[in-house]
Amino acid sequence: MKGKILGDILLVKEVNDDLQELLKIPGVNKIVKLGHISGPQRKPEVELLWGEGTETIHKENKCLFKMDVSQVMWSKGNTAERIRLAKMVGEDETVVDLFAGIGYFSIPIAVHSRPAKVYAVEINPVSHHYLRENIILNQVADVVEPVLGNCRDVAPQKVADRVLMGYIGNTHEYLDVAMSTLRAGGVIHYHESVPEKLKFTRPVERIKRAAGDREVEILNQSVIKKYSPGVYHVVIDARIGIRC
Ligand SMILES: C[S@@+](CC[C@H](N)C(=O)[O-])C[C@H]1O[C@@H](n2cnc3c(N)ncnc32)[C@H](O)[C@@H]1O
Repeated sequence: MKGKILGDILLVKEVNDDLQELLKIPGVNKIVKLGHISGPQRKPEVELLWGEGTETIHKENKCLFKMDVSQVMWSKGNTAERIRLAKMVGEDETVVDLFAGIGYFSIPIAVHSRPAKVYAVEINPVSHHYLRENIILNQVADVVEPVLGNCRDVAPQKVADRVLMGYIGNTHEYLDVAMSTLRAGGVIHYHESVPEKLKFTRPVERIKRAAGDREVEILNQSVIKKYSPGVYHVVIDARIGIRC
């Protein structure tokens, strides 16, 4: 059986096994066939094969994520990155998550690092709805402020010690937004899907171009996962400008 379990839902790409057998997996009450995930709002195509409804609560790294798998995506391949970021934020920091989704990064950061503030910006009203629910479920309403809208229009200016760009697609088109959201000396965590040959070179060049005459210090560059044949999902951590 190939599939992943999210809360009480088993997500499968195809069904070769007997559904009754799959339902014997401990904790599984629903089976959903997952198709393509597409568009800037990362909406999945799904078919409910067994059970009622497509909403669930998934637990990861001591955080609860309520979501409707027919409306929002969940990437298992990003688990290590969610954990890495959750533990690196300082207590006095202000974080701006430009592509917050249901709180993939904002919630673990708030739970594990308890920074001063996390602004969690999300364009999709359905994801924003679950983000609000997840803030309550994880008791982080004093830390995380959900902001509905396009980050280009609604992201706060010059406040962030850290900006998260955890979205892949046309992420580089938002580097100017990240730069105007950052304080001098702040760090961006920039994600990109890149052909193997350009791994690290293209994203670093794009960051440097967007930074203009500000200094760029590359703190980390790593592969999060293989995205498609010959294409990698990478993250670059970069400090921009000099800390005042
Ligand atoms: C799905 S998340 C990426 C996955 C996540 N990093 C993880 O760990 O699984 C990306 C989110 O960015 C949102 N988004 C896309 N463009 C946006 C924009 N211009 N402003 C704000 N949010 C945006 C999408 O709606 C989506 O919820």
